Amino acid sequence: MKTVLERIEECKVVPVVALEKEEDALPLAEALIAGGLPCAEVTFRTAAAETAIRFMKGAYPEMLVGAGTVLTVDQVDQAVAAGAEFIVSPGFDAEIVDHCIANELPVFPGCITPTEIAQAVRRGVDVIKFFPAEQSGGLSTIKALAAAYTNLRFMPTGGIGINNLNHYLAFDKIVACGGSWMVKGDLIRGKDFNRVRELTAEAVAVVKGMERS
Ligand code: 3PG
Repeated sequence: MKTVLERIEECKVVPVVALEKEEDALPLAEALIAGGLPCAEVTFRTAAAETAIRFMKGAYPEMLVGAGTVLTVDQVDQAVAAGAEFIVSPGFDAEIVDHCIANELPVFPGCITPTEIAQAVRRGVDVIKFFPAEQSGGLSTIKALAAAYTNLRFMPTGGIGINNLNHYLAFDKIVACGGSWMVKGDLIRGKDFNRVRELTAEAVAVVKGMERS
């Protein structure tokens, strides 16, 4: 059986979702799966996150569903109870990371600086969310960090879209890119799940068409 990390690597793109209404969880999951990305990071930026995760995993157990923007240990527990298989946080929070590791739960803490990375690496984290990626120097910053932390791999998120996706994925220390461009709030609010599917399929086609260096 593949690990969560292997499945994330296989997808290469992790859609970062903020759902205002839980009723949108299933049509959104359907659109992502139909577009070729059976994966979502459902962010705890909205009150619907926990139920959305439960709905998605209930209807599509084969879909990989994680929780994002996790800010407290309580949210980790809520997410896991709902079926989340990995935890992503925007920043490095030692309490959250320790709690996830103690519970053998894949965790991708947000890190930008060597100081934050040092904290994560000391705890055995081997993949960090590099967030916000574009705003923090993008791939050249990641390469400089990767030169120092040779066993570390990265999930850049923030400012990534169809036009710079392959720029990141071409570097072999990038596990996957996170992004919200195919699941933007206006598409979800407008229930334009067809467009979500199209944008997802476009991302999958771009990933398939690239060569890694
Ligand atoms: C996140 O929390 O991962 C980001 O908000 C996603 O960034 P994007 O909206 O720029 O893709």
